[in-house]
Amino acid sequence: MNIRNLALISCFVALVAYTPSAIADDARELVKLPVQVKEKFLTEMRGNLMKLEDIMAAIADGKFNEVANIADLKMGFGHGQMEQMAKANKSTEEMLARKKEMRRMGQRGGHGQGQGQGMGMGRFMPENFRSMGQNLHQASEDLAAKARAVGQNPSVKDYQAVVRALENVSNACTSCHQAFRVN
Ligand code: HEC
Repeated sequence: MNIRNLALISCFVALVAYTPSAIADDARELVKLPVQVKEKFLTEMRGNLMKLEDIMAAIADGKFNEVANIADLKMGFGHGQMEQMAKANKSTEEMLARKKEMRRMGQRGGHGQGQGQGMGMGRFMPENFRSMGQNLHQASEDLAAKARAVGQNPSVKDYQAVVRALENVSNACTSCHQAFRVN
C-alpha cells in the first residue's frame, strides 16, 4: 500500500471514529416533534430572528414605540392571536386593546399557556421547554415596558435600559438553544 492510500484510509478512519463522538457530545435535550409541527416551529424561529432585527433597527432609528409594539404584539404572550388579528387587518390600537383585555382577564396566551392541553404546538413540547418559551415572552414584554417608558427626548440611560432589556430577550433565545434541539 502506498503512502497516499494509507493517508486516505487514515482520513476515513478518523472521520468514522470522530463523527459519532461529536454527536454524542451534544448534551441538548431532544424534543421530538411531528414533521409538520417541526417545520412550523423552525419557521417561527427564523421569524424570531427577523423580529430581533426589526427591533434593533427601530432602536437605531430611535423609534421606541415601534420597539414596544414589536416586542409586545409579535413576541409577547398571545403573539399567535395577535398575528391572526394582524392578518385580519386589525389596527395596532385594536391589538393593543385586546392585549390589555387579556392582561386584565389574567390570560396570557402563547404556546404552553394551556399547559400543553390546548391545540397549539405546546402540546408536543415538554414542560421545561414550554417554560423557556414563556421566559422569552416575559422578557419581550419587559422590553416593551422599558421602550414604552422612553419619553420624547431619549437619554443615554433610556437607550441603555432598552438595550439591556433586549439583551435579556436574546438571552432567552440562547438559553433555550443551549438546552434543546428538535427532530
Ligand atoms: C423554547 C426554546 C427556544 C426559544 C425561547 C428560542 N428558540 Fe430558536 N430554536 C429552538 C430550537 C430547539 C431550535 C432547533 C435547534 C436544533 O434542533 O438544532 C431553534 C432554532 C432556531 C433557529 C434556526 C431555524 C432553522 O430553520 O433551523 C433560529 C434562527 C432561531 N432558533 C432563532 C431564535 C431567536 C432569535 C430566538 C429568540 C428571539 C429564539 N430562537 C428563541 C428553541 C428555542
